[in-house]
Amino acid sequence: MKKTKKTILISAGPTLEPIDPVRFISNRSSGKMGYALAVAARKHGHHVILVSGPTSLKTPKGCHFISVTTAKEMAKAMIKNFSKADVIFKVAAVADYAVKNPAKFKIKKNKKELNLTLVKNPDILKKLGKLRKKYQILVGFAAETHDVLKHAQKKLEEKNLDWIVVNDVKRKDIGFESDDNQVTLLSRDGKKIKLRKQSKLKIAGKILRQVQK
Ligand code: CTP
Repeated sequence: MKKTKKTILISAGPTLEPIDPVRFISNRSSGKMGYALAVAARKHGHHVILVSGPTSLKTPKGCHFISVTTAKEMAKAMIKNFSKADVIFKVAAVADYAVKNPAKFKIKKNKKELNLTLVKNPDILKKLGKLRKKYQILVGFAAETHDVLKHAQKKLEEKNLDWIVVNDVKRKDIGFESDDNQVTLLSRDGKKIKLRKQSKLKIAGKILRQVQK
């Protein structure tokens, strides 16, 4: 990718899947890494489309911002904007399952046990990996607790990605709500780049530069 102005599509934050009107299931994610990428991409002069699940962060200036709640809404927004994008960062922590029949009214606590039936959500990134054109750069993120690089490598191949950015989410000093992160980048052609612990904004700049090479 040459260093001209590109369209960068980013998905960030968690998705929320309703149980009833006041409860939901979700994934841990502050959205900070995805938003940092949006800020870094804007600094480089790129056009940024940010598809975000609910976060408490300020919308980065100058982005085309699309707010979503569920994985299905995120999938729709990502697919709709996909063909415009030169580079896609799929940072979001998508809830892998949604509640089958969310209750219309608040569920009362009158039972000792409550069973929820969960159904698998679409794998958005896998779908994008099938739709992608050769000129597009597709970057996934992996949150792992064990066999970190092995699992990430598998996702890189199965989702047809150019890069995967790997987070070890067992570490308490980085990731999730932290302003810092420490990640490893794996590429389709076998590169392995370890970035030391630093701010998510700096990490974002480095990821962006790396995939632009
Ligand atoms: N992802 C996605 N849609 C899903 C699940 C994940 O687009 N339903 C994307 C994430 O945004 C991320 C990548 O896939 O870029 C890897 O996400 P991760 O949660 O680490 O892994 P999963 O594919 O969900 O696999 P598992 O939960 O089994 O580790």
